[in-house]
Amino acid sequence: MKKRIAIFISGRGSNMESILRQVQGGILKDLCEVVLVFSNKPSAQGLEIARSFGVVTACIESKGKDREDFDREAVRFLEPMHIDYVVLAGFMRILSPVFVRAYKGRIINIHPADTKQFQGVGAYEWAFENKLERTKITVHFVDEGVDTGPVIAQKEVDLRGVKTLDEVEKRGLAVEHAFYSEALARLFSQSIQ
Ligand code: GRF
Repeated sequence: MKKRIAIFISGRGSNMESILRQVQGGILKDLCEVVLVFSNKPSAQGLEIARSFGVVTACIESKGKDREDFDREAVRFLEPMHIDYVVLAGFMRILSPVFVRAYKGRIINIHPADTKQFQGVGAYEWAFENKLERTKITVHFVDEGVDTGPVIAQKEVDLRGVKTLDEVEKRGLAVEHAFYSEALARLFSQSIQ
């Protein structure tokens, strides 16, 4: 049975777009279907991209809302869709235990650093400022902490020779785009067997 996934975004949605391509005709084709692309920001550019793929989109604005109230609303909204996995792809909001417990062990995130070394936002800036020769992209389960959940897979990014933050981001994102779908494919095929 294909996994039913919801992709959560807050902005650009380039990771979401890569996943949608792999679901449409690549390594995720037989493994999952994207039931919903969900945003906490109505202005997220990724929503438009998702619609161009013919995917159902929804937004519940989080601005000004209590964290737990928002999460309760999101859980209630998702419930009838029978989602197997929530895939965070640039979702810029910390999920409270209300949400994490509802989808325990079924929320996945991509973080642009080794989560043991750097948590939170600004990971590419951190790599650039510290002149790292390599960094790691981490795909991990989400627990109740910030970027503290069990690691699913990691992939190295070679940063030798980069001169600007832009270049760091470009190299990192190129790895993210391929790697997120690969990690999801491995996870979904394991749990299908
Ligand atoms: C990515 O770098 C991702 O790792 C991080 O936020 C960024 C989102 O970019 N969590 P996009 O919205 O997927 O283009």
